Amino acid sequence: MESAHELQSRALAQLDSIWDNAKLEEWRVEFVGRKGAVNALFEQIGALPKQERGAFGKAANAVKNALENAFNAKVGAIKQRELSEALEAEPLDVTLPGRRPQRGRIHPAIQTLREMYKIFGEMGFQVYRTRQVETDIMNFQLLNIPPYHPARDNWSTFYVADTDERVVLRTHTSPGQIRVMRAMYPNPIRAILPGMCYRYEQTSARYEIQFNQVEGLAVGHNITFSDLKGTLTEFARRMFGERPVRFFADHFPFTEPSAQMDVKCIICEGAGCPLCKYTGWLEILGGGMVHPIVLRNGGYDPDEWSGFAFGMGPERITMLKHGITDVRLFWGNDLRFLEQF
Ligand code: DAH
Repeated sequence: MESAHELQSRALAQLDSIWDNAKLEEWRVEFVGRKGAVNALFEQIGALPKQERGAFGKAANAVKNALENAFNAKVGAIKQRELSEALEAEPLDVTLPGRRPQRGRIHPAIQTLREMYKIFGEMGFQVYRTRQVETDIMNFQLLNIPPYHPARDNWSTFYVADTDERVVLRTHTSPGQIRVMRAMYPNPIRAILPGMCYRYEQTSARYEIQFNQVEGLAVGHNITFSDLKGTLTEFARRMFGERPVRFFADHFPFTEPSAQMDVKCIICEGAGCPLCKYTGWLEILGGGMVHPIVLRNGGYDPDEWSGFAFGMGPERITMLKHGITDVRLFWGNDLRFLEQF
């Protein structure tokens, strides 16, 4: 009995002067650990005469509880002391101004995209989104580009799996033409199809493996090439301001006839400079009259319907507007670039 009380007062006295965690751990091991003094008390019980065992056990339990409670209290006390010491060592100046949160902004390519939505929206074009993972059939075949046709060289293609040449990341937004036609038939269509496209390119200042496109499609009973020219000329006026545009013949498998549209160079106004490669003109988009085969693939009878289509790149247009010379900046996530817009 005596040794139990002695043990308790010796342990508590030691604990009193402990103020760091390493010492506290030593104390715990010595007194209340599995091989500690308290457990040693319990082990003595068996050697006592029977009539003393009950009282001794009770006393040992009381010691155990007392020491464990004291230990837990000490853990809290040490924490509290460490906190006050830290607060004293690193005083907090509550009068300092707070940190200004970083303000996000709209990515420059998306700014241009939104401008396009606005311009075409005011001309009656709705935004229609289609998928980024496409079938080969949609991305190529229904657009009049058969397998093994040399025109495929124009679109370096990511296949979704090595073993499956039937599923691709869309190389352009043009497959959306088929989807929107199939969804809208037999209504007339005026839609733009914005979104991300992917090409298996060596990246460089001019080429990226992903970029946005905006496809335009109008289908109706009496749509002519003049409608295409008028729509795109007005678009260029709204996007680039008053400046001459020119159209000339191009080739795309999904339009016939096909055209390219240029605007007078916004840097040199036609005199010739590095941006326009001394031609005086900047190419901004391709377009044409929807090929009869494509109309039919969309469900519209080309004897009754006609349409125009066009495709342009918001990143490219942003580059021309701001004199940006490296397309990789759009995906570089360099704030020094992005913060300028
Ligand atoms: N899909 C073409 C490309 O990615 C762009 C294009 C050209 C779209 C002419 C059209 C078009 O709708 O009529 O290169």
